[in-house]
Amino acid sequence: MNNRITELFGIDYPVIAGGMVWCSGWRLASAVSNAGGLGLLGAGSMHPETLAEHIDKMNAATTKPWGVNLPLMYPEIDRVIDLIIEKGVKIVFTSAGSPKKYTQRFHEAGIKVAHVVASSKFAIKCQEAGVDAIVAEGFEAGGHNGREEITTMALIPQVRKVTNLPLIAAGGIASGQAMLAAMALGAEGVQIGTLFAVSEESSASQEFKQLCTTLGDDGTMLALKKVSPTRLIKNALFERIAQAESRGAEADELRSILGPKASKRGIFEGDIDNGELEIGQIVSTIKEIRPVQQIMATLIEEYRQTKADIAGSKQFDF
Ligand SMILES: Cc1cc2nc3c(=O)[nH]c(=O)nc-3n(C[C@H](O)[C@H](O)[C@H](O)COP(=O)(O)O)c2cc1C
Repeated sequence: MNNRITELFGIDYPVIAGGMVWCSGWRLASAVSNAGGLGLLGAGSMHPETLAEHIDKMNAATTKPWGVNLPLMYPEIDRVIDLIIEKGVKIVFTSAGSPKKYTQRFHEAGIKVAHVVASSKFAIKCQEAGVDAIVAEGFEAGGHNGREEITTMALIPQVRKVTNLPLIAAGGIASGQAMLAAMALGAEGVQIGTLFAVSEESSASQEFKQLCTTLGDDGTMLALKKVSPTRLIKNALFERIAQAESRGAEADELRSILGPKASKRGIFEGDIDNGELEIGQIVSTIKEIRPVQQIMATLIEEYRQTKADIAGSKQFDF
């Protein structure tokens, strides 16, 4: 597979493992890079010292290209950007903020930048900021979502219309079929979170991963719009949040219901009743915790097989 995304990042397959708090340590990111995709370290849940350690481990674990995901609301942002530059990281995927402020600084250090957006309005801002690629993420995705609730199916063609930049689709993609569909809509690569969050190499707790394999298609819901819209598994904590939201609770009350370190408690430490459990809608299709190598092989095989099947199938002739 050779297209603008594989060429931009020097990877075999246009598959990026999205940076995920409490999941994307060096084990997951290096496994994805070693399997021919682009692994990203999730800086969002790491103190700068921890990130430095993971960067060193990453360098020891792979010689393939990899990057760092940096949510721009990171509290020690300047310190962590200095660290990323000092450590010679080559690729950064920024999210949750404006791409304007830091893209030039990364470019001056020879770092390629992709930025995550959830609407075409922000895709235009990315183009103005000079990013190298855009990730367009629909609201079926795991993690923090766009307020506008635009699905991947609706978002990709609209972003494709407003920019000519290399485009990566994210949200609801966990099979080769879905990857092919995203490419048919105009994407040139995919960013996958949920499928890799439930992999063997993900640093999420076993309790969280096991719970993920039991969920149906109604297992998650978008909540916390007054704080930061987040797709959550419907556990006891979610129910408390939903009740508070239905009687109009404001952001401060919602934050106090969440309590401190809610996503660490849930995803990393395995408090599946009272922790904040972030995962995407497509989780309902994942019934096994598998190694990354196997996940990637299946994805690429499904993609190629489906592409060939479509070419020879009467279902599409009318
Ligand atoms: C547990 C979890 C944590 C996430 N944390 C982050 C994050 O720290 N930064 C970010 O940009 N995106 C984050 N995301 C979003 C992913 O990077 C990715 O874009 C998204 O999961 C893609 O949609 P999918 O989950 O349907 O595959 C997270 C997703 C999950 C499931």
